[in-house]
Amino acid sequence: MSTGPHPRSRAWVLPLVSALLALAAAGAMGAALPTLRPPLHPILHAPRTEAAIRRALAESPHAGDCEQCHTTHGDDQPTVYPNALTSPDDNALCARCHGTPWSGGSFAGDVLYRGTGHGASTSMIWPGPEPGMRIEIDAATKCLNCHDPHGWTDALGEIPQLAVAREERLCLACHDGSPAKTDIASELRKPYRHPTGDISGRHTGPTESQPADFGVSPLNNRHAECEDCHNPHVSRADGGSLDGTGDASKTTLGASRVLVQNGFAGQRPQYTFIAGQDTLTAPDAEYQLCFKCHSSWTTQPSGQTDLALELNPANASFHPVEAAGRNPNISAMAFAPGWSASSLTRCGSCHGSDFGSTAGPHGSSNPFLLRRPSPASSASRAMASDELCFSCHAYDVYANPAALPGTRAASRWNGPGVANGHAEHVGAAQVPCYACHVTHGSAQQPDLIATGRNPGMIAYTSTASGGTCTTTCHGVESYTLNYAR
Ligand code: HEC
Ligand code: HEC
Ligand code: HEC
Ligand code: HEC
Ligand code: HEC
Ligand code: HEC
Ligand code: HEC
Ligand code: HEC
Ligand code: HEC
Repeated sequence: MSTGPHPRSRAWVLPLVSALLALAAAGAMGAALPTLRPPLHPILHAPRTEAAIRRALAESPHAGDCEQCHTTHGDDQPTVYPNALTSPDDNALCARCHGTPWSGGSFAGDVLYRGTGHGASTSMIWPGPEPGMRIEIDAATKCLNCHDPHGWTDALGEIPQLAVAREERLCLACHDGSPAKTDIASELRKPYRHPTGDISGRHTGPTESQPADFGVSPLNNRHAECEDCHNPHVSRADGGSLDGTGDASKTTLGASRVLVQNGFAGQRPQYTFIAGQDTLTAPDAEYQLCFKCHSSWTTQPSGQTDLALELNPANASFHPVEAAGRNPNISAMAFAPGWSASSLTRCGSCHGSDFGSTAGPHGSSNPFLLRRPSPASSASRAMASDELCFSCHAYDVYANPAALPGTRAASRWNGPGVANGHAEHVGAAQVPCYACHVTHGSAQQPDLIATGRNPGMIAYTSTASGGTCTTTCHGVESYTLNYAR
């Protein structure tokens, strides 16, 4: 094309485009391609018109000359690479320009990408139908399974980030059980779920970093898209179970989070926002991801708990999410196998799928998105042995009056020290844990004691060797501990 139009003029585009479109049409019709030309159209969607490609490209960040990526050869010279590209149709083409990791917020470079399921799995192939499935032999792991270099359009217009589908639809095309092994689509159809599919158009991209980006005010930006918790370019599989640790899942690597510096009990902590690219900043714990949306760093819906206040280790009591618990002396026998007083609990230890084989807080049939049921009611009822609390606190110790005395004595508030302790209250009198205990933490009361519930505790006083309870069920009762706190 040395005698053709100046490369910067638009005239040269026409022969290129018509050649490409002719080839595309030939490919789509299944006709034999000219021998010198490698297969053109590796995806099975109908070839777009020149006008459609130009229109999409003009609105996309790749707007500019086609020759950034395509050769200007027409029919006069053989095209060496598929689609008349200037280099092979693979991820190296993208890396030519996207060589500065994290420059746009979430693409962290090719090396990190290749360590992800997306960059390594032979099943990572776009399944279609819109755009059509990819069928070229080396389709797996390509950026093009999620991105179209010219942009892609749906009913709402050009899809942001050059993605081939909008928001969760991109991810769920594969994460519905096939070709990805995990079925997140079913999780998100459960009655209690993150509103990933219920809210759209609020996530603005990987540079969201202000409290208002995630909060209910000044504008309602409340949302939870897959990308708020996962970075598809960095996320990777966990080696083993996270139970008993506070560690963040590696599937959430490269997603932004919020660190806390705690003050005294009841005081709003100081927050530091950590961008996705600072993934290696220690400590890296799961709750930091959740605090982006469930703490007073942002503005929460009215009535929702400020988890950062409740889990502050300066509180009188708390479940051990940010730090080990206040009660290292609780007998090891009082815990279910795998748990002890020195364990850490993650939000994900309690919140997540009710169907154990899919990890993560995507959806559950249990209210509050819990892994096991735990009704937030103090009304009298018999507790079942598969309720949430018993996944860590031994059922026989806390709820079974027929258990051996030696077993029940693993709780400080049971016989022999107390005539009617945990096992009798829960198992015989049918008082659920919720009547006497809060779940996340308490700035004032030790041992997660709840006051003000009905039925429940009106007042509680802790002494060195026991305590005194005033309840809606009986008058003032004092007890002596089985063993020291
Ligand atoms: C940023 C790089 C880039 C730019 C700029 C670019 N293309 Fe492409 N183009 C590609 C890649 C990569 C493919 C292969 C797509 C695939 O394998 O799915 C392709 C494929 C095509 C195809 C065939 C497949 C299809 O999607 O229908 C046509 C036609 C095409 N480009 C036209 C153009 C035109 C016209 C322009 C300029 C207006 C242009 N391209 C600009 C990278 C680019
Ligand atoms: C010729 C250089 C070049 C090539 C090749 C290239 N890009 Fe880009 N790309 C850019 C520029 C420039 C931008 C806009 C600036 C930015 O966001 O970094 C961009 C932006 C993007 C964006 C961000 C979209 C947005 O809305 O912010 C995505 C996604 C993207 N490119 C993906 C790809 C993929 C996938 C490939 C390989 C098929 C590719 N690019 C190849 C230059 C290129
Ligand atoms: C599994 C799907 C998926 C794959 C595979 C994928 N991306 Fe992305 N990419 C996305 C999504 C989704 C976004 C938007 C992220 C957001 O909204 O927070 C994005 C954003 C981007 C951006 C825009 C801004 C930035 O820097 O974050 C660039 C550039 C980019 N991708 C490049 C690539 C390249 C290059 C590859 C291949 C090496 C690739 N992507 C592979 C889904 C993917
Ligand atoms: C083209 C298919 C495809 C698309 C689209 C896709 N994924 Fe995946 N994803 C996979 C495959 C394959 C794996 C590897 C594990 C498996 O087979 O389940 C995987 C793994 C993952 C993992 C586990 C960590 C890892 O690296 O193994 C997460 C988290 C994930 N994907 C999130 C996303 C998100 C978020 C999106 C949308 C932005 C997305 N995926 C889009 C196919 C896809
Ligand atoms: C990007 C924001 C975002 C992040 C990050 C986030 N959530 Fe959410 N979460 C939401 C939204 C939005 C809802 C719907 C109710 C609302 O607006 O709070 C929700 C709802 C919930 C609910 C149900 C609340 C109820 O009243 O039933 C639980 C439980 C929950 N999230 C736990 C978590 C956990 C655990 C994490 C960390 C692994 C987390 N969330 C991270 C945005 C987020
Ligand atoms: C020990 C188990 C446990 C842990 C750990 C836990 N939760 Fe909960 N969470 C519950 C239970 C049970 C409920 C139901 C209401 C109640 O008991 O207070 C709940 C309710 C919620 C709710 C909805 C109701 C409300 O109070 O606003 C949200 C949101 C929530 N938790 C988020 C989180 C986040 C975020 C974390 C980690 C920072 C976390 N939880 C850690 C057990 C737990
Ligand atoms: C509120 C945050 C949040 C949102 C939104 C979210 N995830 Fe997750 N996801 C997580 C966490 C946390 C884990 C890891 C849980 C664990 O290992 O305990 C996870 C795990 C996963 C896994 C691995 C599951 C397994 O069993 O190995 C995949 C795949 C995944 N998520 C995909 C998605 C997709 C796709 C979307 C959007 C449709 C999405 N996630 C939305 C937080 C989220
Ligand atoms: C994922 C495991 C897990 C689950 C589920 C769980 N806990 Fe705990 N809980 C612990 C651990 C570990 C400790 C020990 C912390 C310590 O040493 O203070 C603890 C401590 C406690 C304490 C004592 C706190 C103190 O400071 O004395 C109470 C009370 C308690 N849990 C009640 C409950 C109730 C009620 C439920 C059900 C709503 C529940 N727990 C669910 C792991 C769990
Ligand atoms: C009638 C009120 C009441 C009910 C119901 C109740 N607790 Fe308690 N619980 C207490 C009191 C009082 C203490 C404080 C004991 C002390 O002084 O150290 C306590 C302490 C605890 C402790 C600290 C360690 C120990 O064994 O002393 C755990 C763990 C605990 N409760 C778990 C539970 C669980 C799980 C349930 C439901 C199965 C439950 N509690 C039901 C009143 C109650």
